Amino acid sequence: MSTLKFAVLPGDGIGPEVMQVALNVLNVVAEKHQLQLDFQQADVGGIAIDNHGQALPNSTLEVCREADAILFGSVGGPKWESLPPKEQPERAALLPLRKAFSLYANIRPGLLYPELTEASPLKTDRIPNGIDIVCIRELTGGIYFGQPKETTSLDDGDIQAVDTMVYKKSEIERIADVAIATARSRGKRLCSVDKANVLETSVLWRKTVSEYIAEKAPELELSHMYVDNAAMQLVRDPNQFDVLFTENMFGDILSDEMAVICGSLGMLASASLGAGENSLGHPFGLFEPAGGTAPDIAGKNLANPSAQILSAAMMLRYSFGLEEAAAQIENAVETAVKGGTRTSDIAFGRDAASTTDMEKAIIAAL
Ligand code: IPM
Ligand code: MN
Repeated sequence: MSTLKFAVLPGDGIGPEVMQVALNVLNVVAEKHQLQLDFQQADVGGIAIDNHGQALPNSTLEVCREADAILFGSVGGPKWESLPPKEQPERAALLPLRKAFSLYANIRPGLLYPELTEASPLKTDRIPNGIDIVCIRELTGGIYFGQPKETTSLDDGDIQAVDTMVYKKSEIERIADVAIATARSRGKRLCSVDKANVLETSVLWRKTVSEYIAEKAPELELSHMYVDNAAMQLVRDPNQFDVLFTENMFGDILSDEMAVICGSLGMLASASLGAGENSLGHPFGLFEPAGGTAPDIAGKNLANPSAQILSAAMMLRYSFGLEEAAAQIENAVETAVKGGTRTSDIAFGRDAASTTDMEKAIIAAL
């Protein structure tokens, strides 16, 4: 019997309640597939600030280091919003975690089941068959981490702030490999997004991507698009894309746009894969829902647990190599959602069904 060793970091808001549902689902799947769950829970985000004085305490990092993957909830909330930006849970927990484990490859599926097209703000005739795209976002480079990054007082009394956008060819090729693998497993079309008409980093990005794909994956259909155009094309006709592939900040913005056109933040999972291998020889990764802590509905049994459950499925697929178990979970969520248990924007509590109803429906469909 193989053992799945992972860290569980539920975080704040709806994090703990949807995490519990994901663990319940994992338990059922583990039984069916003869897997042993060995997880350790730790504080992260606001609750870690309250209990340990830091959003990402060393004790939590230690739990993560001993694990083969991290199942992450959500962090942040009104209670910690008045802290200085650098100390806020989102930034003080997620960014150091990404850096500590070199989580350079962020995979965000944008999936809207055809039955739920009404939930999208797009006109339904633009998406007659729902939406099925993926965004591959570079996650440890670019303007998020480049140095210098500082605010200084100038001699003339003015104040100046600097962020630095940096990319190395090797960083671009490393994430291109993930984009290639993703495109090969899907529609074989890659759209690389940059701002090569203005930015040096984008000129390097475009050149590197062109040469690398031509050499390593000539069978893929590669296109390039400026980020402003990509933002527009995404709302005009999202399914013109198969795999969107871009740098850190463009990916941050485009993946949120992708999330909203997919109708419900409560449905969107993500994987952030690391450069290192775990003890099983698979990529170490952090798996988290995209919807946030939804503090307004926390504790009300209203949160849609799907994104957390789908994130757990991605963990099984990428960090444990359990494709069949992952697909089983994804199919169960799809069945439950299509069965009408949850229909729309549940992360904001506008739906009637409860978290526990959703859990029952998904477990029944497993
Ligand atoms: C995300 C978030 C983070 C980011 C924030 C919370 C630091 O928006 O995961 O997309 O900008 O990367
Ligand atoms: Mn974001």
